Amino acid sequence: MTSKRVNDINLAYTDLGAGPPIVLIHGYPFNRTLWTEQAELLRSKHRVVAPDLRGFGESDSSEGPATMSRMADDVASLMDALEIERAVIGGLSMGGYVALAFARMFPARVSAMVLADTRAQADTEEGKQTRSQQAEKALSEGMAGIADAMLPKLLTPETVSKRPELVKRVRDMMLKTKPEGAAAALLGMAERDDQTEFISSIQVPALIIVGREDAITPVADSEKMQSRIAGSRLVVIENAGHVSNLEQTEQFNDALLGFLSSV
Ligand code: MLT
Repeated sequence: MTSKRVNDINLAYTDLGAGPPIVLIHGYPFNRTLWTEQAELLRSKHRVVAPDLRGFGESDSSEGPATMSRMADDVASLMDALEIERAVIGGLSMGGYVALAFARMFPARVSAMVLADTRAQADTEEGKQTRSQQAEKALSEGMAGIADAMLPKLLTPETVSKRPELVKRVRDMMLKTKPEGAAAALLGMAERDDQTEFISSIQVPALIIVGREDAITPVADSEKMQSRIAGSRLVVIENAGHVSNLEQTEQFNDALLGFLSSV
């Protein structure tokens, strides 16, 4: 495992290839292996860095809520340690929340953005309560119940019934997540700022990608982001739910490559 000491923890990461850097930030409750296919695709032309966010994968957990700004600060510190001043910052779902927090905190370090299956809005009051119940459930019962409840929302019904290997891969990623890491991220997501106003100030090229059947961050959320980020491009991935990069890797990769070759 490759890791760097950033802030108060050891952060594990993948660092492949050479060229203009792109940082890919995973969603909840996943880890950096979410991006394996994209890293393999991009490494011939880009330096691809994919961290395990605090509390996930092989990175350390920490006390207290893992807020989006704390995680964004970890990404910035990792970039410092890797001597990357500026990069394309991409994230899927919670990774998108972190990417938006990063863009707000470190605008000069963002050359372009990829916002996949994510949204700009904060949680509703009801959503915050659910997060805190889920955090307690993760800590008291472990990840199996959370994984089983999430799976049908992450993948399309067709994927669930016809692609057992992909279902297993997604489930295994969730089961490997440390309950304390998941709980900290849930509390951190509940605290996140609404970025709806902020995104209107994004000046860099932005690609917004969403699975047509995304049940967690639906197409309408991406359309809202696109209407606010000047010049942004929206790609809707057919036959995909919330983890569109895994469900329709080819469509997702085509969108990513097309975008990166234009920025
Ligand atoms: C994710 O995929 O990162 C989460 O489902 C996002 C969320 O729960 O808001």
